[in-house]
Amino acid sequence: MTTATTAFPVFLGADEITATAGDILGRCRDLVRPALAEAVGRLHPWLGEMAAYSFGWCDVGGTPAGGVGGKGVRQALAVLSAEAAGASGEAAVAGAVAVELVHTFSLLHDDIMDGDQTRRSRPTVWKAYGTGPAVLAGDALYALAVEVLAAAPGGGTAAAVRRLGTAMADLSSGQADDLLFESRPWTGPTAVEPEEYRTMAEHKTGALLGCAAALGAALAGAPETTVATLDRAGRHMGVAFQVADDLLGIWGDPAVTGKPVHHDLRRSKKTFPVLAALSADGPGAPAAGRLATLLEEFPDTPDDATTHRAAALIEQAGGRIAALAEADRHITAVEACLNGLPLAPRASAELRTLLGFLVRREI
Ligand code: IPE
Ligand code: MG
Ligand code: MG
Repeated sequence: MTTATTAFPVFLGADEITATAGDILGRCRDLVRPALAEAVGRLHPWLGEMAAYSFGWCDVGGTPAGGVGGKGVRQALAVLSAEAAGASGEAAVAGAVAVELVHTFSLLHDDIMDGDQTRRSRPTVWKAYGTGPAVLAGDALYALAVEVLAAAPGGGTAAAVRRLGTAMADLSSGQADDLLFESRPWTGPTAVEPEEYRTMAEHKTGALLGCAAALGAALAGAPETTVATLDRAGRHMGVAFQVADDLLGIWGDPAVTGKPVHHDLRRSKKTFPVLAALSADGPGAPAAGRLATLLEEFPDTPDDATTHRAAALIEQAGGRIAALAEADRHITAVEACLNGLPLAPRASAELRTLLGFLVRREI
């Protein structure tokens, strides 16, 4: 496997980023964890076990596993945004819990939609517990998120719940497009355009990241312009993150990603590197043509040699480089959003570190 580190100009060295981002994520996780565990503890025990399994807190059957599960990026975004708005991170805890619950819910359902059997190197919830139970656990997590947010101390809870609802509606439309794109052709007049991809990615991934950042600031009492700008920053972060995720799906190491390689290709997911490769002109055009032919004749269950050939053609046509440039454009847009706000310097720097972590990739 080829290994190269992406070189986004706003970042420090990869090791430094990892250590610093790890500290930030750990601090935010420690702050939010008691309220998150308390909320999950109120679920029906079976649903609570599936939630705890998703968070990496237990194995199937409920034996404590001591894992931290996901990275906790959304809760950290909420906490840092509250701090960036000049408040204590405590102000954001209810919002942070809500976005982590919604994120976990969305992953439970997404793995069913995508037919994915592995996440974070473990069986997905539907694989481990069954599809019906996983749907129900997802529903319970979503309901719990609304309940927690509606009970947040201080004012502005109706607006906060409305914001979460808007993000969820956007997330659902992004998921709808993501699924519909699977059966759209790779070429011709009804092929998926890169701009359609951007909207889909902003919705399915960016809306909740934007909501996390906005909720933290809103619960801290920040002015609406700050809240709205952080929402926009989070949405750009989401597109950058999704493009990086697409790259990892083709060139990532499964030992690091915790997901099987080439799954998106097998399902004809319209990921950015492929869309960019297919629209290549100039030196990449011959490879783009061969890629189009290969994808149009893709069998329902392509073998490894076929998906590897597709990955090589995507690279030759310039899809990888174009995807890195696309991620870079959205990172620049995040920077512009943050630069335009009067944010507390430390939290603002930590937000930038988190952004670097989100798109820091070994690919
Ligand atoms: C997941 O998108 C987005 C949501 C859960 C809403 P993907 O399907 O592209 O993400 P992974 O690769 O399964 O994490
Ligand atoms: Mg998925
Ligand atoms: Mg999906």
